[in-house]
Amino acid sequence: MIYLTRRERFSAAHRMFRQDWTDEKNQKIFGKCSNPNWHGHNYELFVTVKGELSEETGFVINIDTLKKIILEKVIQKIDHKNINLEVDFMKGKIATSENLAIAVWNQLKPFIEKEGAQLHCIKIEETENNSIEYYG
Ligand code: NI
Repeated sequence: MIYLTRRERFSAAHRMFRQDWTDEKNQKIFGKCSNPNWHGHNYELFVTVKGELSEETGFVINIDTLKKIILEKVIQKIDHKNINLEVDFMKGKIATSENLAIAVWNQLKPFIEKEGAQLHCIKIEETENNSIEYYG
């Protein structure tokens, strides 16, 4: 089994909050990320796929194809956007990195499998100090 990781970066705005809570309670639970006037992060996304090597190509997946899938299904939809308001695959979800990792997994999985590989991990770094990993 071989693992391959592609990194992409994107910048996006968000606010973590629940509409059924007061601003005070949102502030208490979600902290600075609950600012009602939005704020942004420079996110890093790491997509790890796994599989057996193709004898024909020596690849687990064509990295150029993987890059195109990530750009089309995720980055073009989220880069320089407001995650709460503009990103279709995050609609109705609290804009945490946890929910984002799961949503990105669901966006990418079928297209990676179509290429003969398996999705192994979605890692999202919201800051240098905080990251989320989702394994399905
Ligand atoms: Ni934030």
